[in-house]
Amino acid sequence: MRLDRPIVFGNWKMNGLRAEGLALAGALAERAVRLSGTLGIFPPFTILHAVAQRVRETAILVGGQDCHERAFGAFTGCVSAPMLVDAGARAVILGHSERRHGLGETDALVRAKLQAARAAGLLVVLCVGETEEERLAGKCEERLRAQLEGSLPPGIGPEGLVVAYEPVWAIGTGRTPTAQDIGSTHAALRSMLKRCVVGGEEVPILYGGSVKPENAAEIMATEGVDGVLVGGASLDARAFWSIYQAGGGA
Ligand code: PGA
Repeated sequence: MRLDRPIVFGNWKMNGLRAEGLALAGALAERAVRLSGTLGIFPPFTILHAVAQRVRETAILVGGQDCHERAFGAFTGCVSAPMLVDAGARAVILGHSERRHGLGETDALVRAKLQAARAAGLLVVLCVGETEEERLAGKCEERLRAQLEGSLPPGIGPEGLVVAYEPVWAIGTGRTPTAQDIGSTHAALRSMLKRCVVGGEEVPILYGGSVKPENAAEIMATEGVDGVLVGGASLDARAFWSIYQAGGGA
């Protein structure tokens, strides 16, 4: 799958009943018949199929927000990677901090999910990020390295893989690292990726955490930032589209 820059992904989280989800998808679809960059939306499972249908004539990528590590079986309440594909998804977010911290997902589990997602042909958006405590203790890079090494199977290639750097303390808080800090963390992630991925220089690295139309241009102009993963601001079509445009997307 070709991922032209900027890459702008919207994580709707647990938001979007059918009517509002379809209205949001429809408003984006009008703007995105053809795209110079990559625009993706990640609605909740319940409306994934309807949203994928709504944008099927456009270049918008639709994905799930998680998947189970097994393809089928007795796992009540879970959704597998082949099920996401069947519903119209082409991508999946894995290892989001709300799952790592909120639901206790480990790196080993994220790795198993990643293998399942790739086996099903899904693009994986792998999230990593440090807590504020880890950052203040000077352990940011150590944490990111552990997450990458723990979540990426040895010998993995770059195709179908995107990494999103999302500092936990910046998600939904309105606080962001400085552009300089984002740049240096992305540079550190790049050198880690060169070690854990064969061809790791090709893996796009997104920034996520309180991205808004007001800060998107500066963040996406930062060296080493290939795009953004947007939460709250992706629920408003106009704001999400202006973030995409701020990154040079048309
Ligand atoms: P936010 O969320 O943009 O609302 O901070 C980002 C994310 O969790 O992916």
